[in-house]
Order: sequence, then structure tokens, then C-alpha cells
Amino acid sequence: MKFFVDTADVSEIKDLAATGLLDGVTTNPSLIAKSGRKILDVISEICELVDGPVSAEVAATDFETMLKEGQKLSKIASNVTVKVPLTVDGLKTCKALSDDGIMVNVTLCFSANQALLAAKAGASFVSPFVGRLDDIGEDGMFLIEDIVGIYDNYPSLGTEVLAASIRHTAHVLAAAKAGAHVATIPPNVIRQLYNHPLTDKGLEAFLADWASTGQSIL
Ligand code: E4P
Repeated sequence: MKFFVDTADVSEIKDLAATGLLDGVTTNPSLIAKSGRKILDVISEICELVDGPVSAEVAATDFETMLKEGQKLSKIASNVTVKVPLTVDGLKTCKALSDDGIMVNVTLCFSANQALLAAKAGASFVSPFVGRLDDIGEDGMFLIEDIVGIYDNYPSLGTEVLAASIRHTAHVLAAAKAGAHVATIPPNVIRQLYNHPLTDKGLEAFLADWASTGQSIL
């Protein structure tokens, strides 16, 4: 499973990209607003830091304007993935951009039927929002399982399932078990993936024993 980070905070992205384990980035209008910066500047900086897909979301809701916005965003760098909402106009935009060879991430997906439509529209990624379904008392991970299963029935579909609205490390594990191609994860949750108290305890003991030998490897 590929790991994308879900943030528009450039310093966080720089830090995580340095690990060599970051496969891409997703942003959305709320994350851009939180950054307090201009979308074109932020996306361009992120694209310089990360080689993988960087999602930049359109802000219009009608086809004509979304298409123009998508075309403009796609010109920032070759790894920009234009993000469009799962609406009729959004999917029309997805089809038009995809036909032009531009990667598209269809966002705000809350049902398997919506995911089928995104795939038919040629999306590179579809983003089912796990946490927001959990928030309303549903199990968001069932949706990931459903979509992965349905897409598997049609091997010619090129759309990747991007588990979004990930809130904690258990979501990451469940997305991997469900076969999601990608999970986009907030920076704090990515960092939590490294942690285990037995790793800390074990390392502490190894270091103490090593010190007692008085040796040096270098
Ligand atoms: C997906 O691309 C979205 O940016 C994001 O995952 C939404 O997460 P939230 O529901 O925590 O806002």
C-alpha cells in the first residue's frame, strides 16, 4: 500500500519526504486554508519536494470552471493530480482531464456506486472518506472493502482506491488488510505508525548492554 500524507504543511512534508517512505501528498481546500498560503505557491513547493502524485483540489462546482481550474493546476508540475468532487460536473471534469492524460483524484466518495462512476470517468484515484462515515455511525472500512472487491471484478479499470479521512493507526492497518492501493494519512498518524513501547524498551536495553562492552563499531 502506498502512503500519501494528507496535509498542505510544507515543513511537515519536507520532514516526512526525508524518510524516503512517502509516496505522495493530498491537499484539499480546508488544508490550504489552514496553511494560510496561496494554493499555486503551496502546490508548486510540494511538487518540488515529492516525486509522487500531489493532489490539488478545484474550487468551482460547474464543469466549465472546474475544467479551467484543473488545467491550470495541472500545469504547475507533471505530478499534480487534479482533485474533483464526486458530482455530475466533477465527473464530467474528471473524464475531460483524464482523456487529456491528466491524473485525477475523485474526492468525497461515500458509496460504492459513486466509486464505480469515478472509475468509468477514468479517475486515477477515488477517495472514499473512511473517518467521516465512521462519524455518522457507519463503518467506513466496509466501503473500502466493497470498492476494492468491485474493482477487482474488472481488472481493466485503472482506478486506485485511496483510503481517505484516515483518523488513526488502526484505520491504516484496516485499509491495508482491505487491499486499498493507497492511504492518505495525517502527519501525526504517520509518525505514530513507527511507535511501539517494546521497541523503545528493547532499544534502551540494547544500548545499555552495548555501552557495557566499551566497544565502537566505527
Ligand atoms: C482526502 O483527500 C481528504 O483531504 C481528507 O482525507 C479528509 O479527511 P478529514 O475527514 O479528516 O477532513
